[in-house]
Amino acid sequence: MIKFIIHVLKRFAWFKRLNAKVTYELLAKKIPATDWHFMNYGYVPNPSEAPLDLPNDSTIQRYPLQMYHYLGAKVPMEGKAVLEVGSGRGGGAKHLASHFKPASYVGLDLAQSAVDLANSMHQLPNLKFIQGSAEAIPLPDSSVDIVVNVESCHAYGSVTKFLSEVKRVLRPGGYFLMVDFRNQANVENMETLQQQLKDSGMRLLEEENISANVIRSIEEEDNTKQERIRKLVPEKWQKLFAEFAGVVGSKFYLTLKDGSRKYYRFVLQKPVM
Ligand SMILES: C[S@@+](CC[C@H](N)C(=O)[O-])C[C@H]1O[C@@H](n2cnc3c(N)ncnc32)[C@H](O)[C@@H]1O
Repeated sequence: MIKFIIHVLKRFAWFKRLNAKVTYELLAKKIPATDWHFMNYGYVPNPSEAPLDLPNDSTIQRYPLQMYHYLGAKVPMEGKAVLEVGSGRGGGAKHLASHFKPASYVGLDLAQSAVDLANSMHQLPNLKFIQGSAEAIPLPDSSVDIVVNVESCHAYGSVTKFLSEVKRVLRPGGYFLMVDFRNQANVENMETLQQQLKDSGMRLLEEENISANVIRSIEEEDNTKQERIRKLVPEKWQKLFAEFAGVVGSKFYLTLKDGSRKYYRFVLQKPVM
């Protein structure tokens, strides 16, 4: 019954905003673990993508980091002004800011507790995290070269408003890099997102269904993820959290596998004129 009520409420923009705010404020407050840096389902690269050499260190969350790495690799980032919307615990921002050397990288997130945690965990001269909403980005017009958005916009009240904000803050010729999933049973399914992107006034350069890459990531990361849940999450919350984290056998994993959920990667560009 509760699940059904939440399912219905999620059709309302105000509820989606409230749900995102409460969930992510709580997550960072209740689990401030400094060795947990990501909240995406991870990515296994295509054979055509150059392998990423990472130190053999079990604390590195290889798969979620790869989600960022192969998205960031889509456009030249060195010396650019980058904004990430929905930066969460900041691990992706830290990787892109150090690996691709943008002039500046700002991570924006709705949850103040996630912003505080990210600022305390990741310190680089070109990196900072600020609080704010994707639907009212607190930056001037045409001030950013690249906007990055990883597994976040499914939670926004209005994706259309978010896309108009992305277009507003991007300089002409600037890029929008995005990955996210959609449940095909919802009104806001992947076709809706594709139409919203088409209507955004930005030019679609690349679009790829990466569901299979994410499924492989969930499978390959499962043991490590389950171990992390046992270590970090109080026992009574572990089952619920495992669903949220998308372990093998969770609803997220099963729906991605049977095609009723899709996960895509997009590259768009703001027109020069
Ligand atoms: C699934 S997490 C992904 C975090 C991060 N991108 C990663 O991959 O580790 C989604 C993030 O989006 C943020 N978020 C949700 N709604 C938002 C909004 N309207 N504006 C900015 N951030 C938002 C949440 O607070 C959360 O940190």
